[in-house]
Amino acid sequence: MVIEDVEALLREKRVFEPSVSFKEQANIKNEDVYKKASEDLESFWAENAEKLHWYKKWDKVLEWNLPYAKWFLNGKINACYNCVDRHIKEKGNKAAIIWEGELGETRVLTYIDLYREVNKFANVLRSIGVTRNDVVTIYMPMIPELVIAMLACARIGVPHSVVFSGFSASALQVRINDAGSKFLITVDGYYRRGNVVNAKDTVDEALKNTNVEKVIVYKRVGNQINLVENRDLWWHELMKDVPLYCEPVQADSEDLLFIMYTSGTTGKPKGVMHTTGGYMVGVNTTTRYIFDIKDNDIFWCTADIGWITGHSYIVYGPLSNCATILMYEGAPDYPSFDRFWEIIEKYKVTIFYTAPTAIRTFMKWGDEWVKKHDLSSLRLLGTVGEPINPDVWVWYYNTIGNGKCPIVDTWWQTETGMVLITPLPGITKLKPGSATFPFPGIVADVYDDNGNPMPPNEKGNLVIKTPWPSMLRGLYKDPERYVETYWSRYKDAYLTGDGAAKDEDGYFWLMGRMDDVLKVSGHRIGTMEVESAIVSHEKVAEAAVVGMPHEIKGESIFAYVILKEGIQPSKELEDDIKEHVKKTMGPIARPDNIVFVSDLPKTRSGKIMRRILRSLLTGGELGDVTTLRDPSIVDELKEKVKEKLGKT
Ligand code: WT7
Repeated sequence: MVIEDVEALLREKRVFEPSVSFKEQANIKNEDVYKKASEDLESFWAENAEKLHWYKKWDKVLEWNLPYAKWFLNGKINACYNCVDRHIKEKGNKAAIIWEGELGETRVLTYIDLYREVNKFANVLRSIGVTRNDVVTIYMPMIPELVIAMLACARIGVPHSVVFSGFSASALQVRINDAGSKFLITVDGYYRRGNVVNAKDTVDEALKNTNVEKVIVYKRVGNQINLVENRDLWWHELMKDVPLYCEPVQADSEDLLFIMYTSGTTGKPKGVMHTTGGYMVGVNTTTRYIFDIKDNDIFWCTADIGWITGHSYIVYGPLSNCATILMYEGAPDYPSFDRFWEIIEKYKVTIFYTAPTAIRTFMKWGDEWVKKHDLSSLRLLGTVGEPINPDVWVWYYNTIGNGKCPIVDTWWQTETGMVLITPLPGITKLKPGSATFPFPGIVADVYDDNGNPMPPNEKGNLVIKTPWPSMLRGLYKDPERYVETYWSRYKDAYLTGDGAAKDEDGYFWLMGRMDDVLKVSGHRIGTMEVESAIVSHEKVAEAAVVGMPHEIKGESIFAYVILKEGIQPSKELEDDIKEHVKKTMGPIARPDNIVFVSDLPKTRSGKIMRRILRSLLTGGELGDVTTLRDPSIVDELKEKVKEKLGKT
């Protein structure tokens, strides 16, 4: 969602304070943390780093050569040890993962269970030849084995690259090849809305053109699959005779922990790199401060682990705090619209973290589904992924939180690794629709195009001015793109790509992306990636993709397509192109609308003016069109859009 009407948003004046009872029990009760962190950034982070286990302490907290940061230099640490081993002595029988399958089955893994499985699987990885020079790609749905696989990699100091299981074969292939993975971990299949998704078929297709040598397959469903000889191995077979213990590697703070691919403004996904020490300190600290994690919480983050939210706030943040996480395999509407509320009631979830697009969907389904269940176990709510409309916020607060749970609207990115703009739930007075203030130690601002701070209440570019421990360390095998994307617009600040305004009280209001990146149902999708997918259709000559405001999804994908000479437009072709994109990238990238046009609005130098393409959809001002090579094209596009949407 891109918010143009800044004034309307800032007219929101409601304020919600944490209750006395929440305040009293909160992990962070005192505003002094902000002051302390801004006065001495390094000791703030060093103190928080002390909460983790280090084989060897760092010599230096931070080395900042803009735009390159190193944190906790020469410290030795293991992420898996911090998430598992150090809890087993005192909390071994505590539930680490409570898992609910889509079919309704429950599995509970205690910290000892997790310890045993992770140790064994780490030995499995070694037994098939995985070394510290490898990157292991993981393509798995939401099952505990995904967590086990990630932690096993971390244990032996091997970076993982988890690819969202909803991605198509070719999207998976691109990511495997960019990471240069020789090893892949996957499943036979999984359940989605009662159907079996044959993930292994997708994998076989993806592997046609890669250097993958070994594939480990976990049997989730028991569907018929094809095992390629000398390549594919069953998880359960390998786990049979490996030793129960695997010594964790003493990784350097700056050793790569994982790569996470995300979309940017070019067609090629970016491999965001996160390193071990700083990332762990960032997510461990923010889980304590923002999610107020306590020993008896049941923490449910509904994101998929295939995205950064799941990495940071299902796996590494909560587990390094010895929390109990809830993990759900399936869809929110299966078998009925109250599945989430049923799960909250069944397991007495205390902290619930989801996305605005999901909340808008729940609102649409109606309050009666919520009212059927006892949600009184909830004490804290969170939201992430896109701006939340104030009215949706208030619905979430009253209907799900029963007017008693603070909401943490957390702003962050794959690149930031941890939440950067957020309330602290025991302190912050909340304004619906605002992510409130930068986390302690984070300095954020709103700049105009020349790098001057914007006056209050005006929209500009959100920038971050200080380094933070879990910031990305670069883009895999693409160092120039790191500098160019984030550090070239302004010389003193990290460019987030988001629009924002700061009000007179210092609250930040996030307003969506300023670049050619879309947020469709909270998923980050590059317009160029979708355009390349469309153009790879044999009948398409050219395409331009923009986001269209959508009530539930925030944004939906709208494509203007020029067909090749002699090809006639038709409804069938439209559907065929949509299916083609789905097959090329995955269901999340399937355009909602396609119009066939004879040309696109281009400047004389050939640049597509997306501003015009967007305004045509919202009925906004088209602005100056005289600089176009062919201004008359605008009338044709207007007609086509009107036909399609039934409006101008
Ligand atoms: C983009 C990052 C890491 C969180 C999951 C998405 C948008 C994220 C908020 C928020 C408004 C938000 C931004 C950001 N975003 N959180 N609370 N309010 N917008 O990670 O896929 O890397 O996407 O999500 O546009 O740049 P991501």
